Amino acid sequence: MLYQNIVDYFVDNIEKGLILPGEKLPSLRKISDKFDVSLSTAVEAYRKLELFGYAQVKDRSGYSARFPSSDNVVAPSKKFKSKVCEIQHIDEIIELMNHTMNKDIAPFGIGVPAIDRFPNKMINKYLSQTIKHHPESSSAYLFGLGYELLRKELVSWIKPWCGVNSFENVMITNGCLEALNIALSAECEAGDLVAIESPCYFGILHAIHHHGLKALELKTDPLTGIDPEAFEALAKTKNIKVLISTPTAQNPLGFTMTDERKKEILGICKKYKIKLIEDDLYGELCYEKKRPKTYKYFDKDDIVTYCSSFSKFLGPGLRIGWVIPSGDVQKYVRQKLSLNLASNSLTQYTVAKVLKNEDLIKIGHDLGNYYQNNVNIYSNILQKELGDKLRLTKPTGSYFLWARVEGLDSAAAYQAAKKNKISFTPGTLFSANRQYQNYLRINCAFQFNEKRHDELIRLAKILGN
Ligand SMILES: Cc1ncc(COP(=O)(O)O)c(C=O)c1O
Repeated sequence: MLYQNIVDYFVDNIEKGLILPGEKLPSLRKISDKFDVSLSTAVEAYRKLELFGYAQVKDRSGYSARFPSSDNVVAPSKKFKSKVCEIQHIDEIIELMNHTMNKDIAPFGIGVPAIDRFPNKMINKYLSQTIKHHPESSSAYLFGLGYELLRKELVSWIKPWCGVNSFENVMITNGCLEALNIALSAECEAGDLVAIESPCYFGILHAIHHHGLKALELKTDPLTGIDPEAFEALAKTKNIKVLISTPTAQNPLGFTMTDERKKEILGICKKYKIKLIEDDLYGELCYEKKRPKTYKYFDKDDIVTYCSSFSKFLGPGLRIGWVIPSGDVQKYVRQKLSLNLASNSLTQYTVAKVLKNEDLIKIGHDLGNYYQNNVNIYSNILQKELGDKLRLTKPTGSYFLWARVEGLDSAAAYQAAKKNKISFTPGTLFSANRQYQNYLRINCAFQFNEKRHDELIRLAKILGN
């Protein structure tokens, strides 16, 4: 596609502020000379820029730049209710996973990242080195806490935003979800009450269900995160054992909580003796250059158990995550030993080398830029098709859009989309008591092209019906 280079050039320059909104864009003739393309290719490029919201027809004098923006920001749900409940829709989550793993289905459903955007070549180089330098790696367990060198490298990498100094309290896990599960079983007993953001990642709901726990959804603003007043009101009256929170680029809402908000939430946890399990999986995919600090960084009272992994910016197949508990790590080691003894040795050796030699901040930042661009493009197309019927989030990182569509029955639309080989995640899957009937989550991770454009238009038609 000849026009794509021109589109990428302008999107990049507008995103970086090198071309300002309102600025006149070069004439079609100039574009055709500069990029050595025909006039019709230049017209095609400007039409695409207009479609994505980066250009508008000024008057007869041609196009001017604009920044894609949506005033239709999703507001907190008016019908929201905080209610203690058990989670019952696990089968729907499993059905969604099976359905969206099918390669013929348009991939707006399950939250997998863009496979071709990971640094696969670099990872494979280190995997080969590991096989050469550690020929024993497939025959050795790295029991309990995991590979010491990896834990040391990890701590020196995350220290600026986690404030952690010692590798001794770090345990390697099979991804972030295992870290969360181990944290729940170490901190809770069956029947305990776990407070969660609403909506929240359905894997967290699955874990709460698995451990025989109850959930309490907290009022959560799509732009600013957990509402401290609402949290404190519930903390006073309910016996909340643990709060699970994703303060940066939350899935599915995409907000990042300010440091002040994090400190406020920590203060409430301390006052009512609530442990906080932090899920920081998307921290590296922030659109802002500055990596946000974590709850763990501000935790003076040792109440935060920190969980994360490399799944979203090095590759989920590595299955390397970690947990840094509050209190004694040995309680966590016992859980790990009872589950699977150890994490994969080959990938532990490999990731230790990657951490030592590569610029992970840059890898995360480049991915964040790519996702931000995608989220803008997807938002614009959907907004154009659905107009005022649609309300969208304004993510601060990662690759999800959370949408409210007036009059939508997301379960019925999901079935209609399935028939049309399109997937999305119905809003109800992100709520312990099936709130958010007229909401959905859209995965914007995959490269935008003609095919994706067509699929998004088909999705919009289904949602708008
Ligand atoms: C918020 C959140 N936490 C945890 C996970 C699981 O991460 P991992 O693949 O590292 O187990 C996901 C996966 O999408 C997620 O969105």
